Amino acid sequence: MTSTGSAQPHESAIGHVTGRAPFIADLPTRRDELLVGLVTSTVASGRLLAVHTEAARALPGVVAVLTAADIPGARHFGPLVADEPFLAIDRVDYVGQPLAIVAAQSAQALQQALALVQVMVAPEAPLLELDDAMTRGAFLTAPRRISRGDAADAMARAKHVRRGTLHVLGQEHVYLEPQSTLAIPGDHGQLDVHVSTQGPSETQHVVASMLGKGLHEVVCSVRRLGGGFGGKETQANLPAACAALVTHCTGRAARLVYDRGDDFRRTGKRHPFFARWTVGFDDDGRIEALQVELFADGGAFTDLSPSVMDRAMLHVDNAYFLEHVDIIGRVCRTNHAPTTAFRGFGGPQGVAVIERILHDVALACREQRPAASPTSLWQVQHANLYGAAPRDTTPYGQVVQGNHLPELLRQLRHESDFDARLSAIERENRQPSRWLRGLAMTPVKFGISFVATFMNQANAQVLVYPDGTVQVSTGGTEMGQGLHTKIRQLVADVFGIAPVHVAMMTTSTEKNHNTSPTAASASTDLNGAAAVQAAEIIRGRLARWALQHWSLPHTDVDAANVQFAHGALRHAHHPALSLGFAEACSAARFDRVDLGARGFYATPGLAFDHGTGRGTPFRYFTQGAAVAEVRVDRYTGMVDVPRVDLRIDIGRSINPAIDRGQIIGGFVQGLGWVTTECLVYDHEGALLTDSLCTYKVPLATDAPAHFRCVFHETEGPTETVARSKAVGEPPLLHALSVFGAITHALSCVSPHAARRLCLPATAEEVLRALSWADTPVESDAWWMHSARAVTAHAPRA
Ligand code: MTE
Ligand code: HPA
Ligand code: MOS
Repeated sequence: MTSTGSAQPHESAIGHVTGRAPFIADLPTRRDELLVGLVTSTVASGRLLAVHTEAARALPGVVAVLTAADIPGARHFGPLVADEPFLAIDRVDYVGQPLAIVAAQSAQALQQALALVQVMVAPEAPLLELDDAMTRGAFLTAPRRISRGDAADAMARAKHVRRGTLHVLGQEHVYLEPQSTLAIPGDHGQLDVHVSTQGPSETQHVVASMLGKGLHEVVCSVRRLGGGFGGKETQANLPAACAALVTHCTGRAARLVYDRGDDFRRTGKRHPFFARWTVGFDDDGRIEALQVELFADGGAFTDLSPSVMDRAMLHVDNAYFLEHVDIIGRVCRTNHAPTTAFRGFGGPQGVAVIERILHDVALACREQRPAASPTSLWQVQHANLYGAAPRDTTPYGQVVQGNHLPELLRQLRHESDFDARLSAIERENRQPSRWLRGLAMTPVKFGISFVATFMNQANAQVLVYPDGTVQVSTGGTEMGQGLHTKIRQLVADVFGIAPVHVAMMTTSTEKNHNTSPTAASASTDLNGAAAVQAAEIIRGRLARWALQHWSLPHTDVDAANVQFAHGALRHAHHPALSLGFAEACSAARFDRVDLGARGFYATPGLAFDHGTGRGTPFRYFTQGAAVAEVRVDRYTGMVDVPRVDLRIDIGRSINPAIDRGQIIGGFVQGLGWVTTECLVYDHEGALLTDSLCTYKVPLATDAPAHFRCVFHETEGPTETVARSKAVGEPPLLHALSVFGAITHALSCVSPHAARRLCLPATAEEVLRALSWADTPVESDAWWMHSARAVTAHAPRA
């Protein structure tokens, strides 16, 4: 019996539900510990004239008030470009930007001191809208391009041509545990940083460079995160560095834990996107040419935006073959907190765009040839799916191998009774009624691997003890997604022991160094493979030791003949020769066998060149599709989702219980993004929706009443650990089926309403779109403005 493939409970399940699993804020108070708070900007843009700290410093109980001038090392940081100041230097660039750090002995002294720091700023007009940033030429990146064929020429020859736009808004991560760090002074000027980060190595790097220390002087440890969802891939680094600076300057332990409102206001969110396209297609709705321009709101600093844009551009094809295509992407600079990684990492925005394009094409087909097919979005989607060569190559040149979508979609269409329900809904929508219904089937193909090729690496350490128990350490962090549970199962199976005998240890840079953040859904692929490799090294040593121990003749000394199962070692051809695993470990140690090993894994076969926009960025694709049914209230604009059928290919599941949790949780998180989660700022750039009273995340009661989720049975890819496929991010994209269904519902009223719908489809947005039901988008000044702005800055070949 192997444990891989079985529904083991999450290793911290009981700790999570009883509240016994400690997070940073729960760690016991250290002697002399200081509480840390940040003074942040209330102005979105301006020159920083002065920060007066004297009054705050003089307050009893205040131990330090620090500004940029107190930073001993680098004053800027950033994962790709070091353009973000730790503490504002001569200007402020968003509301919530840290300006000064206060450290105090009590919460009361801290609150008083924060209010006493005086900040002098000469305000300037902020750039708050993506449209304005485009018009004024405020960009964080040069344009990037992925193209194939000759889109301009094919467009000129296409029978039908349409232009369109889509606005997609951002999303707040709402991890349960806000950004948190506890910094503790170590020996010889070293620092121990306990931090809720997805990327301990990057946090270590950022802290060390700010303090002017060597990497060997900073240890970052992560027991667990109360959720990250991408929001702690890079953005844990700033608060961690602030706490570390306090420890560095005072020699005392320092803890910084954001409260919910501060976390909302200070941290970056999912990238809002604006897309504009021209699409050429034939009578069957088959795309002949596509030109797309994507603009992302990167906020004030670069952060991960170029990589997010890369992934968005790499997902504009989604499940469809685009023969002549030209995709241009550019990141705009605005005066918002720098936008960052969020589950899907640009992929959801890219897929939202192509799905709207196909919707637009389907509506145009209906308008132009009312009597003939295709009459539905589904027919247009189907006509464009990837298929056999030559229709199997992505715009960036990677061949879509193991394409399960045609079969998966066939099964989903059947099991969801799609055709019959679609006709019934369209018939019903013709009756005058308060309720509109909508139905859409949306495929998703999500590329697995970091888009930055070098990041696809991991190391692991496995220690076997003489009682037959095992400790595993990797650079992967546990944030609720079940990584530790899965690695535990994989390692237990290598030794043929029960998972309870394997402990997953705190992630720490002193054991696993130079690691990539836990992101891109690839952590099991990477860390799992490294851990299995380390365990196999030890198993090999134990096997060779056992053969000697059994004094077998030379003909039998093939270590592969030693089997590890059911907690014992056994010789394949001599059943009498067996040893308990613990007994073997103890005896092997006595014989001086090394029972510890490291593994290293680097994903093979990857190469992507941003310059040419070509290569193999992904090891494989996780594929799936969902059919969503929605009900729209025409009076209030409210949407509910009575039914979803989802089918996803995640290869051979390592842990079906955890994977199911990822699928349902990811879908519901995406449901929030496409329906109710709406970030609203005031005209000065302050976030108005800075609490869960005004920012509407989905509740359990908002989840589809009927939610059927099926693993599509396949053999699984041969090149991944245990033939599994990544599951972390893809389910979020499946919520685009809900957005498609809402668009479908509106299209039954008018194609113009459908074309106007922006994402998220909040109640207000649905009403707005419906109120424009009689006006074609082309006649709208706003639309033309956006189109012109994009054109003015569109790069030329
Ligand atoms: N699930 C939980 N419970 N909490 C999280 O923070 N993050 C998501 C996803 N699922 C997240 C989650 C994101 S953004 C990613 S990239 C993956 O988990 C990362 O973990 P993995 O590589 O182990 O799938
Ligand atoms: N996904 C998530 N995080 C990343 C990626 C990616 O593709 N590339 C760099 N950081
Ligand atoms: Mo996930 S957005 O790659 O942390």
